Amino acid sequence: MDPTTRANRIIWETASLKHVREYQKLLDLAAAGSSLIDVERHLLHDILQQEPDVVHLQSGHGLEDVALVRAGARSVVGVDFSAVAADAAQRRATDIGVACRYVVSVVPDVPLADASADLVYTGKGALIWMQDLLAWGREVVRLLRPSGHLFIYEAHPAVPLWTWDRDQPRIRPDRSYFDRSHVNDTFPANGAVEWQWTLGQIVTTVVEAGMEVLHLGEYPEPFWRAEGVAASAWDGRLPNSFSLLARRS
Ligand SMILES: C[S@@+](CC[C@H](N)C(=O)[O-])C[C@H]1O[C@@H](n2cnc3c(N)ncnc32)[C@H](O)[C@@H]1O
Repeated sequence: MDPTTRANRIIWETASLKHVREYQKLLDLAAAGSSLIDVERHLLHDILQQEPDVVHLQSGHGLEDVALVRAGARSVVGVDFSAVAADAAQRRATDIGVACRYVVSVVPDVPLADASADLVYTGKGALIWMQDLLAWGREVVRLLRPSGHLFIYEAHPAVPLWTWDRDQPRIRPDRSYFDRSHVNDTFPANGAVEWQWTLGQIVTTVVEAGMEVLHLGEYPEPFWRAEGVAASAWDGRLPNSFSLLARRS
């Protein structure tokens, strides 16, 4: 494992203790099965009707996994390099009695068989941890069965630029859309190195890896709001999230 990923993993093991401290609250949320937002439900509707086997890359607390099963998935395998996160997600899935299992592994070196997924689901703070996006894209293609789908609902690549000022949105003077990386200075992964990928790089990588893009959407809502923060950048004028649906060629 490269030194940056190793350091980020230590930070995520600590950050993921939140999933243990808030076990009951997250169990209740998971059990409600409502962790997919409307955009996700809409774009995944037809795919979930086919009862897909899902691989969730960087599954974190795993709340989406229960929701995916409730919405039609036959099974979900979550992959995350945080053992703390994967253990807590597994305990929750077992308590609820859903077909989700968890594998502790670094993405993109996933110890799952070729063509084991009909749908690879990821996002909500996932791509920024990939140092080599093409290696990630090729791993997605390796995991997918022929005509299988990749679905991403993710922070918009412009998000690192926005300040959290309440009065009006501003661009952080220490950031560029075209930077290679920056250090996270907000919870939950404070101090971790995030890799930056422009929307063009993400789409081109998906295509270069061997997938056909079926949909690309951009939205003003952030996928995550820090508690107690009411940033003007979230008032509906700026891109804060995107969705991408692709099919293995
Ligand atoms: C912001 S969370 C998003 C995960 C999930 N969607 C959620 O909402 O909990 C990012 C997750 O990616 C995991 N992660 C970061 N880099 C990783 C890597 N290289 N391989 C595997 N997991 C990684 C972290 O442990 C963390 O659980």
